[in-house]
Amino acid sequence: MASSGTAAKIYEKLENIRDCCSVIPLSPLEEDRLLRELINVDRRLRTRDYTIHSHNTGTFNLVERNRDFFTELQFHSSMGRTWEKVLDGVQLSSHRAILDLCPGYFPKIELALLYKNYRGEVRAINKDGEALEQMNQFLKMFNAPFTFSYTVSDLLDASDKFEPASLLLGNHIIDDIYIDFFGRELGFSSTELYSDQDLLERFWRCILKESTLRRGAVVSYLVEALGALTAERAEVVLVQYPSYIERQLGIQEVSDLHLRTLREIEIALVQDGFVSKTSALESRLDNPAMRFNAEHCLHVVRHKR
Ligand SMILES: C[S@@+](CC[C@H](N)C(=O)[O-])C[C@H]1O[C@@H](n2cnc3c(N)ncnc32)[C@H](O)[C@@H]1O
Repeated sequence: MASSGTAAKIYEKLENIRDCCSVIPLSPLEEDRLLRELINVDRRLRTRDYTIHSHNTGTFNLVERNRDFFTELQFHSSMGRTWEKVLDGVQLSSHRAILDLCPGYFPKIELALLYKNYRGEVRAINKDGEALEQMNQFLKMFNAPFTFSYTVSDLLDASDKFEPASLLLGNHIIDDIYIDFFGRELGFSSTELYSDQDLLERFWRCILKESTLRRGAVVSYLVEALGALTAERAEVVLVQYPSYIERQLGIQEVSDLHLRTLREIEIALVQDGFVSKTSALESRLDNPAMRFNAEHCLHVVRHKR
């Protein structure tokens, strides 16, 4: 409950908005933006999102801007530290090159490789070249001890563009593939889905309705891609934790679907000649400082091709 002083100010602002809407002739674009903003405010209130982000876009609000920036950086760093623990179970020096799958805009896995002083080659694959270039720029700021290169390509269609690698790493990629794969089917781009929370919620509800069928398709595509991209004795580590966005959506079944998909990928890879090492992660990640634990991970080693 807001304090009485704040509540009075909030009601005054809401009255102002209502008065403006009844006298100012709004264009469809203005209406759409205003409505979306108000929907977001309503959602943030309900999900307690303001305890984490200010959502304050005011240029002069240096305190909030820096607080938001620091919160983001701290989150990415703790994610890197948790991945560092995961990678304690991999002999990195025996891997000349590592393939990072669909890394997005921020180098979480690369941060872990930087903490571990990895000195080989890191190659990233993503359909979004802008995200990859931003990662590249970020790594340059920190003089990463490894070389970084990237290929703008579709992971589900990448086998002919890459030599099989000996270590494949993927942070939170199962949702990316669901969104990409079924977004295409339903006619939405990931940019559209991530910029409209209501649309994203409707999208996931639609996927969940037919989750068995959906899961089967995603498992087959990923298993095929992982198989094509791995050399003999190669290792694959995938991590899929309940994300902040998933928690904000408030649909627990979405995170459950991803976790079930992760386990099904592991079973399919084991049937294909991989050996599971996931249980070895349990003790290393059993610590409240870790962002995820062993149940959110998959670690397999390829024994035969
Ligand atoms: C929301 S970002 C998340 C990135 C990252 N997995 C993470 O957890 O931080 C999703 C990224 O996956 C990429 N992506 C989605 N489907 C892909 C595909 N089939 N092939 C390559 N990249 C893909 C998108 O381009 C986007 O940059």
